[in-house]
Amino acid sequence: MDGNGRWAEQRGLPRLAGHEAGSKSIERCVQACLDTGVQYLTLYAFSSENWKRPALEVNGLMLLLENFLNQKRDEMVREGIRLHHIGRIHELPSVCQRKLREAMQATAANTKLHFTLALSYSGRTEILDAVQSLAREVAEGNLDPKAITSQVFESHLHTAGIPDPDLLIRTSGEMRISNFLLWQLSYTEIHVTKKYWPDFGRDDFLAALDDFQSRSRRFGGV
Ligand code: FPP
Repeated sequence: MDGNGRWAEQRGLPRLAGHEAGSKSIERCVQACLDTGVQYLTLYAFSSENWKRPALEVNGLMLLLENFLNQKRDEMVREGIRLHHIGRIHELPSVCQRKLREAMQATAANTKLHFTLALSYSGRTEILDAVQSLAREVAEGNLDPKAITSQVFESHLHTAGIPDPDLLIRTSGEMRISNFLLWQLSYTEIHVTKKYWPDFGRDDFLAALDDFQSRSRRFGGV
């Protein structure tokens, strides 16, 4: 969800105003998923590297997350949305951890849209977490190293149970993966738009889906 800071800067506003406007884009995209039948949406809301930002911005983002969970929990329950998270959630403020757990519990029976928030997330640390957990099982004598297939590895990632993404949308024209879902994006189609995230609306989401539908996917075959 890139470009919140630049969107605010262009308007002479503090960066947090950009993140606040970015939260509205989340609502539009979730609605577009519900309307079009997209079943999985994963948002890169806060990376492990984002902790390096000034405390004012980090605290503001955590407050936005808390408010979002407070305001959207019942709506998610009603709309058939199931909330998931990926990332090192224990690094978040305890109030955010609690709100996340509550919202996940409240939506656990829903199946229409699997909505995943990546929080304190980095693709590399996710892979390291999986490797450490596999190594522990091997050391305890509960896993034969030869039995570590792609499937077994994937079941140790934070995204266990969530299919690999078909489409990655990157806003603000950046042509980077930025440590997002490094294992899972192997065959994902990438759509880059110059729009800043707060300006990304329903029509932009639908245009990204159109672009995706025009791709020929061969997964390494012919
Ligand atoms: C990247 O833009 C965006 C973020 C680091 C935060 C995204 C968070 C939200 C949209 C809202 C909070 C989350 C929830 C789930 C309510 P940037 O700040 O790097 O923008 P820039 O590249 O223009 O500086």
